[in-house]
Amino acid sequence: MLPIDLSGKRALVLGVADDAGFGFAIAKAIAEAGAAVSVGTWPPALNIFLNLIERGKLDESRKMRDGSLLHFEKIYPLDAAYDTHAEVPPDIATNKRYKDVGDFTIAGLADRLTTDFGQQPLDIIVHSLANAPEVKKPLLDTSRAGYLAALSVSAYSLVGIVNRLGALMRPGGSVLSLTYMASERVIPGYGGGMSSAKAALESDTRVLAFEAGRKYGVRVNTISAGPLASRAASAIGIIERMVEYCAANTPLSEPLDAQEVGHVAAFLASPLASGITGATVYVDKGYHAMGMATTVPGN
Ligand SMILES: NC(=O)c1ccc[n+]([C@@H]2O[C@H](COP(=O)([O-])OP(=O)(O)OC[C@H]3O[C@@H](n4cnc5c(N)ncnc54)[C@H](O)[C@@H]3O)[C@@H](O)[C@H]2O)c1
Repeated sequence: MLPIDLSGKRALVLGVADDAGFGFAIAKAIAEAGAAVSVGTWPPALNIFLNLIERGKLDESRKMRDGSLLHFEKIYPLDAAYDTHAEVPPDIATNKRYKDVGDFTIAGLADRLTTDFGQQPLDIIVHSLANAPEVKKPLLDTSRAGYLAALSVSAYSLVGIVNRLGALMRPGGSVLSLTYMASERVIPGYGGGMSSAKAALESDTRVLAFEAGRKYGVRVNTISAGPLASRAASAIGIIERMVEYCAANTPLSEPLDAQEVGHVAAFLASPLASGITGATVYVDKGYHAMGMATTVPGN
C-alpha cells in the first residue's frame, strides 16, 4: 500500500470558522493522514467558532475514521488583510471582536507560532480564505476600494503569508491555496474583483513556487475547486445555481464533496507530491474540461 503519511508533520490551515468550507475538510484530511493541525480564524468569526466547538455542534463533522475527534493544536486569530499591527486602523484595533484577541496580523501569527512551537515548526500551510466586500457587484461596477480589498485579502495575503511564514517552514514543506475557475473563464455573478484576485493568486502560485522553492525548499500549489455551498460562497448569492449547473454539466455529475478537495490537499502536502509545484490542480469533477453546456436553457 502506498500511504499518504503526514505523521510527525505540523500543519496550519488558515480560513476555518465552521465545518462547511474547504478549510475544515482539508484540516480533517490532513489530520487523518497523521499531521498535527492548527487553524487561523478571522476575528469576527472567532467566538462563534469557539462556541460551536465548545457546545459540541461540530462533533459529528469532527469525527475521524478512527473514531477520535479532530483536534486543533491551536486556534489563532488572523485577519489576513494586515501584515503588521502598525497597519491596523484604529476602528479595527478597538473593535469589540478584535481588541482582546492579541496580535491578529500575519506578523503576529508568525510570532505566536515561534513562541508556541519554536523557530521552524511548520511543514504545511493551507490558505483557504477569501473576501470581497463587493462580490455581488459586476466587475464593471466595482469600486477601486472594493477591487483592492478583494485583491488584498484574497490574493496578496498568500504573498504576505509566504513572506513571513516561509522561514518557519521545514524544507520539503507544502503551501497550498484554493482558487476558482473564474480566474480564467467568465463566471457571471462572481464579481467585486474576485475573478481578478483568483487570477493573481494563480499567477502568484507560480512565481512563489520558484522563489520560495529556491529560498526555503518548499512547494507552492493551488487547487481550483468546483462550487461548494460554503459560508463564503453563499455570500456570492448564486452558489446554489452554480452547484446545480455544474452537476448538470460536469463529466462526473455528483456534486463536489469538500472531502474530495481535502484528500487532494493531503496528497499535495505529502512527500508523494514532491515533484509537484507551481501547479493549479483542478478538483472540480472535470468541469474545466468542458467547452459547451449539456443543458441549454429552455430544454
Ligand atoms: N466554495 C466554493 O464554491 C469555492 C470554489 C473554489 C474556490 N473556493 C475558495 O476556497 C477558499 C475557502 O472558501 P470556502 O468557500 O471554503 O468558504 P469558507 O467560508 O469556509 O472559508 C473562507 C474563510 O475566509 C475567512 N476570511 C474572510 N476574510 C478574512 C480575512 N480578512 N482574514 C482571515 N480570514 C478571512 C472566513 O472567515 C472564512 O473562514 C477560498 O479561497 C475560496 O475562494 C471556494
